[in-house]
Amino acid sequence: MKKVGIIGTGAIAGIHAASIRAIKNAELVAVCSSSPDRAKEAEAKFGVKAYSDIQAFLTHPDLDIICICTASGRHLEPALAAAKAGKHLIIEKPIEVTLARADQLIEACQVHGVKLSVIFQNRFSSDYQKLKSAVDAGLFGKLLMGNAYVNWFRNEEYYSKSDWKGTIEVDGGGALINQGIHTIDLLLDLMGEVSSLFGQVKTVYHQIEGEDLGVAIVNFKNGATGNITSSTALYPGLPERIEIFGSKGSAILEGGKITHWEIKGSETKLEESRVFSSSGAADPMAISGILHQLQWAEFIDSLENEGEYSVDGTTARRSLELIRGLYLSSKRQSIVNFPFEE
Ligand SMILES: NC(=O)c1ccc[n+]([C@@H]2O[C@H](COP(=O)([O-])OP(=O)(O)OC[C@H]3O[C@@H](n4cnc5c(N)ncnc54)[C@H](O)[C@@H]3O)[C@@H](O)[C@H]2O)c1
Repeated sequence: MKKVGIIGTGAIAGIHAASIRAIKNAELVAVCSSSPDRAKEAEAKFGVKAYSDIQAFLTHPDLDIICICTASGRHLEPALAAAKAGKHLIIEKPIEVTLARADQLIEACQVHGVKLSVIFQNRFSSDYQKLKSAVDAGLFGKLLMGNAYVNWFRNEEYYSKSDWKGTIEVDGGGALINQGIHTIDLLLDLMGEVSSLFGQVKTVYHQIEGEDLGVAIVNFKNGATGNITSSTALYPGLPERIEIFGSKGSAILEGGKITHWEIKGSETKLEESRVFSSSGAADPMAISGILHQLQWAEFIDSLENEGEYSVDGTTARRSLELIRGLYLSSKRQSIVNFPFEE
């Protein structure tokens, strides 16, 4: 049985609490919020001991894992404190908002010998896993093009009611780093490493510091190319979409579900998917908690059996690297070759 504490008790924390409670070998035992008032509210909401002081929280008896649900650019400090205290970590995406901060976090986990998993729950949809297995088995042949489109919409309140969303310091930007990153993570998992990209970001609709529209042309190390678009300005918000084209066939994953699948010489058959994510295209909380639960179950199992798990710090860094490269390309108005210095 692994005992878990959650730090950051806003919107996503409830999905983690429900996931932990649904797993038989995990138990939520404490939460930590940023002020005594919020800690009091959190104690009532989550029904476990709540702290407002992180050092006191970390001394709660027998804590094994800390789940970090603070705002994106506020992941590092609590993560460093938890790693130093010898706690394993599950951190919400993105790992952090700059590569320097992500590297500090990854290094601290290595130094203190703790495991780090970053939430990219869409990896656990059964249709995504079917697509990934087929790509890895070479069923689509040599990969020629991989595209990721996250043409979403958020209303004005989404940003105006938050003290950090859309800010450069704490969100790291806007639509790409907060929303598009899930689909970019999947694209990289399918297509492999990036060799260069040319990108452009704009703020076309919302009153925010970060971008609400970003596009890029990407070259992958395997020779394939691809397009990325990510937005929170495109009403009404369409299901996110990944397109994979290879020399022997193509597939489309839309809203977590395979909607097109065709391989030369084999019968096209779309089976009903077993577990897929409802899309957050128009509503940030329309995400299905089952995928978080599957990632939790995998991580707990890996701790108990010293096994592998899907998204460690280095893996999670790749989507951040692509997005930081895209921001840099837009700023310089030129192609960015990977790896690059920020
Ligand atoms: N996986 C997903 O689909 C998904 C969905 C939504 C949010 N997220 C991620 O979850 C994280 C939180 O997002 P949210 O929507 O829950 O935000 P939120 O604003 O609702 O909650 C963040 C909470 O963190 C608290 N906080 C900030 N700094 C703190 C600190 N140092 N100590 C303790 N508490 C602190 C804030 O007071 C707030 O309660 C973000 O990184 C976001 O990208 C992921």
